[in-house]
Amino acid sequence: MSIRLSRVSLDYPGGFRAVSDISCNIGQGERVAIIGPSGAGKTTLLRLLATAMCPSSGELGLLGVNPWRLDRAGLRRLRGRVGMVHQSPPIPPRQRVVTAVLAGRIGKWPAWKSLLSLAYPMDIEGARSGLARMEVADKLFQRCGELSGGQLQRVGVARVLYQQPDLILADEPVSAVDPALSDRVIGELNREAIARGVTLVASLHAVDLALHWFPRIIGVKGGEIAFDLPPVRVSDAMLADLYASEAAHVPTQDNQPLEVAPKGIRRRPLCY
Ligand SMILES: Nc1ncnc2c1ncn2[C@@H]1O[C@H](COP(=O)(O)OP(=O)(O)OP(=O)(O)O)[C@@H](O)[C@H]1O
Ligand SMILES: [Mg+2]
Repeated sequence: MSIRLSRVSLDYPGGFRAVSDISCNIGQGERVAIIGPSGAGKTTLLRLLATAMCPSSGELGLLGVNPWRLDRAGLRRLRGRVGMVHQSPPIPPRQRVVTAVLAGRIGKWPAWKSLLSLAYPMDIEGARSGLARMEVADKLFQRCGELSGGQLQRVGVARVLYQQPDLILADEPVSAVDPALSDRVIGELNREAIARGVTLVASLHAVDLALHWFPRIIGVKGGEIAFDLPPVRVSDAMLADLYASEAAHVPTQDNQPLEVAPKGIRRRPLCY
């Protein structure tokens, strides 16, 4: 089992409960999309899975261990096996793209190699091939601060592809990327997970992208799981209910309401 959540809650300082009593298991190699309205708790859930925060109550199992029972060295090793794609990648603006990508393996390399790699990139071709999959290979030697938000997001994905983690987490990884490229990026993440048999959990704003690429959809609302189903069993009514508090409609890549999109697109079979 990759992820085991047993009655997990997370209270932020001040007492707001952002994740409430969630239980769910995600097996090795599963690919799961988390969808839900703004403020539902998607990022909080992913932060818990990334061990950036400790549950306030309940138990978290990650890659077979409880991270919060490990010593510091054990926790660091575990974190090296988990890759996180952030919505706004926390990359220093002056860092070169190549260095940012190679930083993906810092947790796996010996300290001397990691430090040396900051000054003299050690695997330029490895970085280039990850960036090529994200269609940003031409930015290899540019500084990250010079990239657009969508390009930086793709550098963040390339970094995680280069890391080759056992668990890939992605928090709205394509929120700043245009629809055609979003499909490419989410496709690459899925192909990577399938090829290496690793688990992929991604929160997505665009419901159509989630339904198209992921065999399992978890709808989150108010810090709780509203449904946990394969895409063909997620009905329009469930989606309307999930996003009922959003002023507009069920969010999609091109902002067209899902119900006016051709049914064939919404339910198109997975293709790879
Ligand atoms: N550091 C914090 N302190 C207090 N409350 C927080 C903090 N971070 C998030 N929250 C609250 O927790 C709830 C869940 O936030 P979270 O960021 O997990 O939502 P989300 O589903 O990722 O939303 P979005 O789609 O807008 O990214 C929100 O109501 C938010 O206001
Ligand atoms: Mg979020």
